[in-house]
Parts: sequence; structure tokens; C-alpha cells
Amino acid sequence: MNRIFSGVQPTGNLHLGNYLGAIRNWVRLQQEFECIYCVVDLHAITIEQDPQALRAATREVAAGLIAAGIDPKKHIVFNQSQVAAHAELAWIFSCVARLGWLNRMTQFKEKAGKNRENASVGLYAYPVLMAADILVHKATHVPVGEDQKQHLELTRDIAKAFNSQFGVEFFPLPEPQIFGEAARVMSLRDGTKKMSKSDASDYSRINMTDDADAIAQKIRKAKTDPEPLPTEVAGLEKRPEAANLVDIYAALSGRTNADVLGEFGGAQFSTFKQSLADLAVHVLGPIGAEMKRLTTDPSFVDAALRDGAERARAIATPILREVHDIVGFLRP
Ligand code: TYM
Repeated sequence: MNRIFSGVQPTGNLHLGNYLGAIRNWVRLQQEFECIYCVVDLHAITIEQDPQALRAATREVAAGLIAAGIDPKKHIVFNQSQVAAHAELAWIFSCVARLGWLNRMTQFKEKAGKNRENASVGLYAYPVLMAADILVHKATHVPVGEDQKQHLELTRDIAKAFNSQFGVEFFPLPEPQIFGEAARVMSLRDGTKKMSKSDASDYSRINMTDDADAIAQKIRKAKTDPEPLPTEVAGLEKRPEAANLVDIYAALSGRTNADVLGEFGGAQFSTFKQSLADLAVHVLGPIGAEMKRLTTDPSFVDAALRDGAERARAIATPILREVHDIVGFLRP
């Protein structure tokens, strides 16, 4: 059976990278798969969070998923801390994964920065929890942006190592699903850096709750180079900011880069940016408005999360029980 699992951290605003790289694909995949989407609050606390802000962000991210078109009745939306099986399996996987594997994780290196000794143990073990998220539901497919690819390779290594250590064919080897032009949306201020929630400049990203004026202003101020847009895709090489804006346009309009350059090749950025801003407002405006509506009265979102957690528990608990038997834990 095919089952999707994916997650998003409640650490600040959802942005265009989250939407184009992940969430809009999650919406589409609901047609073909049984889907479980998780707001990963346990992952969020690998970096210090203000408790009040964490609670608010958890609701806001859940509202974002629902506003974007995820159906919490047909599928599952929940917050990770409510299903204890995730953390339990993560401990078991900590005893399967090897230090050498974790030492290779580039995201830890980036997030820990120079002061590695001061990073939390949780930040280091983060990918092990991610493997547990996926495998505690025996998910087979994981739609993510490009930046999560290495973590998914580790998930497959952990599944293989567990199966082989205990001589079982228990965990599936989940397939990453990384789609199209917007698998890596870059910062609007620097086309070589990923668009991210943690960037100090709000002008680096378009938030899903930004209003039309903010979206237009951020696109107008986006860094570009002095040349007009090329007519061929090859002309985007070594022009990271231009390439990023064309990628975003293509992803938002469901067209290819070649198609977009067919229309805008030779145009000045001022013209292209105006069209891009209109398009972004057209796509994101209704989602942002619905998010605001859902967070104003959180009772709907809270009920969806409660119900989702209950159904997620019903899937994960029996799987974890089987793991206990495989590992050799006594059930007295
Ligand atoms: P997070 O919260 O950083 O991002 C959520 C999703 O958005 C994608 N994404 C992007 N895609 C394209 N361009 C960008 N600039 C961009 N920024 C973010 C991410 O690739 C991701 O798909 N570790 C995960 C959360 C997680 C998870 C899991 C994912 C926890 N457990 C299990 C899958 C399965 C993370 O921090 O995502």
C-alpha cells in the first residue's frame, strides 16, 4: 500500500519556498495517496523557541495547510508532539543509526554554524526523529523540497539497517518525491541562498500571509542583474537571481521555464516583476486570507489537529508495538 508522510516545522512564517517546494504538491497528492501531514513541533524545539510563539506558529502552520487545500477529514493533519510513538521510535532508531552517518548531515553543519559545541543534542539527532516520523507510519512516499534529500537517504539507511540487524522485512524504504522547477526556491535578496524562515531579512522571502502590497513590494525590491531576461533557458546560467524569479513564475503558473522565457525573453525586469507580482498575489492572496480567517477563530484548526492526532496514533501505535516485539522488549 502507498502512504505519504511529510512534515513542516512551526518555526515562524510559512513562505513561498514551503508552498512551491512542498505544500502545493501535498495538496495534489491527496488524489492518489493516503496522506499524513505533520506539524513537527518536536523538531522545532531543537532550536530554542518561545513557548507562546511555538503554540501560535503550530496553529498557523496547520491553518496554512488547510487553507492551501489539504483536507483534514479525508487525510490526516496533526502536530507531532501529540503522537508519542514518534519520539519512542526515534530513541530506538538512535540505537540503530551510526554517529558517522549523522556526522555527514550538511543541514546540521549549517544550522549549528561555528559554535557546534553549543548546539543541542536534539539538533544533531534531528534526522533520526525525521526517520521515525516517516517509518512509524510505514510511509512509502515522502514529498519534500530538495534540501531534505540527504535526510531521506539517511531514513532509507536506517530502515535498511533495522531490517538487517533484526533479520526482518519490516520497514519499507521510503521514496523521496522532489518535483520540478521550484524544488529549491532561493532568497529574493541573494539567488545563491535558499529562501528560509530563519533569514534575518523579511525581504528575502514571501510569506504566505503577506498581503498584496507586501508581495508586490518584495518582488519589486528583489535583487536582479542589469541585463534583460534571456530568450533561452541556457541564458539563465550564472544569473541566479534571474533564474530564481523565472523558476518562481513557472511554478506559480504551472508552465515550463522555456515557456515563460518565450513570453518574457528580452523584457526588462521591471515589466517581468510586475507580472510576477500579479501572479503571486493571484495564487497566494486567497490562501493568505483563508489562513487569517482560520487563525482568528482557532476552534476549527484545533479540532482538526485533535482528530488528526487520534487517527495518527491509531496507525502508529500498532506499528510501534510490532517494533517492540522485534527488538525484544518484554510485554509483561
Ligand atoms: P521545513 O519546515 O524546513 O520545510 C518544509 C518543507 O518545505 C520545503 N522547503 C523548500 N522547498 C523549496 N525551496 C525552499 N526554499 C524551501 N524551504 C523549505 C522543505 O524541503 C520541506 O519539504 N525536516 C523537515 C520537516 C520534517 C519532515 C519529516 C519532512 C520533519 N519530519 C518527515 C518530511 C518527512 C523540515 O525542516 O522542513
